[in-house]
Amino acid sequence: MCGIVAYVGLNPAFPIVIDGLKRLEYRGYDSAGIATIEPEGDLVVSKKKGKVADLESHIGSSLPVGSVGIGHTRWATHGPPNDTNAHPHRGASERIAIIHNGIIENFAAIKESLKCRGHNLLSDTDSEVLAHLIEEVMDASSLDLFDAVRAALSQVVGAYALVVIDKDNPGRLIAARKSSPLVIGIGADGSYYVASDATPIVGHTKNVVYLEDEEVASLDLEEGLRIRTISNDIITPEVHALEMELESIEKGGYEHFMLKEIFEQPQSIRDSIRGRINLQHGEIKMQGIDDHWDRWENASRILILGCGTSWHAGLVAEYLFEEFARIPVEVEYASEFRYRNPIIRPDDVVIAISQSGETADTLAAIKTAKSIGAHVFGVCNVVGSSIPRETDSGAYTHAGPEIGVASTKAFTSQVAVLTMMALHVGHRKGNIPQDRFSRLLAELNNIPELVEKVLGQASRIDVIAEQFANAENALYLGRGFQFPIALEGALKLKEISYIHAEGYPAAEMKHGPIALIDDDMPVIFIAPMDDVYEKVVSNVQEVKARGGRLLGVVTEGDKDVAALADHVIEIPRCDDALAPLLSVVPLQLLSYRMAVLRECNVDQPRNLAKSVTVE
Ligand code: F6R
Repeated sequence: MCGIVAYVGLNPAFPIVIDGLKRLEYRGYDSAGIATIEPEGDLVVSKKKGKVADLESHIGSSLPVGSVGIGHTRWATHGPPNDTNAHPHRGASERIAIIHNGIIENFAAIKESLKCRGHNLLSDTDSEVLAHLIEEVMDASSLDLFDAVRAALSQVVGAYALVVIDKDNPGRLIAARKSSPLVIGIGADGSYYVASDATPIVGHTKNVVYLEDEEVASLDLEEGLRIRTISNDIITPEVHALEMELESIEKGGYEHFMLKEIFEQPQSIRDSIRGRINLQHGEIKMQGIDDHWDRWENASRILILGCGTSWHAGLVAEYLFEEFARIPVEVEYASEFRYRNPIIRPDDVVIAISQSGETADTLAAIKTAKSIGAHVFGVCNVVGSSIPRETDSGAYTHAGPEIGVASTKAFTSQVAVLTMMALHVGHRKGNIPQDRFSRLLAELNNIPELVEKVLGQASRIDVIAEQFANAENALYLGRGFQFPIALEGALKLKEISYIHAEGYPAAEMKHGPIALIDDDMPVIFIAPMDDVYEKVVSNVQEVKARGGRLLGVVTEGDKDVAALADHVIEIPRCDDALAPLLSVVPLQLLSYRMAVLRECNVDQPRNLAKSVTVE
């Protein structure tokens, strides 16, 4: 949430920062701003409500040339999106400028005391107080910028990723982090980059340092990179090699990132299972489980935590673990779990699922679970992000960067990894006969080819989308393994097309939602030929009798649902437990095309941002 990018080096900062902002725009797009220190020593700030493109038009053709700069793309928390609330913010004497991601919880108290000392704050944001506070500390003491930032932050309660520039120190950036991610890039020519994630950095350097909580970094063209904690302990930076290619964060000829990512799923699922399935020996390798086997073997309960789409992946995992591992499972929204008084027993295993690895609620829930003694296993996509560093063990999903705000390939990769986990635990516990296990492994290994077949129906789905694009509501119904897919299908539609949609277990419909059905209501049944197929067919009949417009996601060769529905999309036959990996794909394509037909901004839906780093 909110994108931060900064540069100090020998080249003009503006093109690097503005390009970085475009890459980070998926983190927030209410407003954008940039500040540079120009060769004559002026601190020049431009900011604008709207997208990065609006900022560019506002700046026009006289571009800044200074070689130190900071940029920000905002997802509003305190104060509406407008030019004044946009970052960067300056201090009282306009000597420093800051960009900030996070929430300063005691900002009201700090603001009040700054006002009493004569400060005139211009915006409604919590962030502006940081600029005033840091500048005041510098003015009132002999501290240099590095120490002043540390001193000011010691008064602050809350979360921040912060970058500061000072016109009296034009060769320097100060960056600080607490509960909000920051990556530092080290250029071969002595330049430095700072960003909320690696996407703006990867085109410049592969050498990165991940700043840890409560660390402050000074990136100085003369003195190099120094890191200290807020309480002044010296930290030796650990340089990592970035495992990301520039092409993976570009659209590669697709109209939108979301469409590219939907079509990448055969490959992303392949990458998730690569090296983990051994067909020859009929086994799964999951180091993160094997290294802590006693915890899994003796687990009396598995608790799964996540938010949004990751929570839906957790619901699929509930069915998988109960089916294969025969361990009771509870799935919790991380945001609810963290503020309850949760009961965690020493023999519980907690699985935390997150694409970004930075979701504030999931991170906090993990800390709660760990503090009461649970073993926490992370299922994350972004390598080096906060959640994998906080968990006891885990498995990366290896889906590659997901830029589209609506999660697609991250979901199927999460489900693929969770499927392997459930199968592995079930197999090691002796719950799955070897022949069934080997058959499931072979089927899972073949899922990427089957996803390709589903994607082959994209143009047919486009035609169906035209029939539904004007709908105001939609109902998604499924049972068993397909109930979480009904929820996920509804979420995809809501978030990118702004059509109100609900997912329900198909049999629950009679207990209320059936009242919604009239001749106009699109009802999407996810009805592959699984254990509960016959029951779902009865539910389809109940809807048909009341006039809904019916779309069925069915198994190839289906006759019963096809006879009742107005449209069907077929998925290949596969084991019930693997069908979610196929059935979700047409729902992603349907939402995508409906949103495009409604002229919605698919990659940047209103009010949303990728990576929810505030609670
Ligand atoms: C929906 C979506 C969100 C995320 C949620 C959790 O398409 O992307 O619901 O799934 O914000 O994010 P992560 O997985 O990064 O923890």
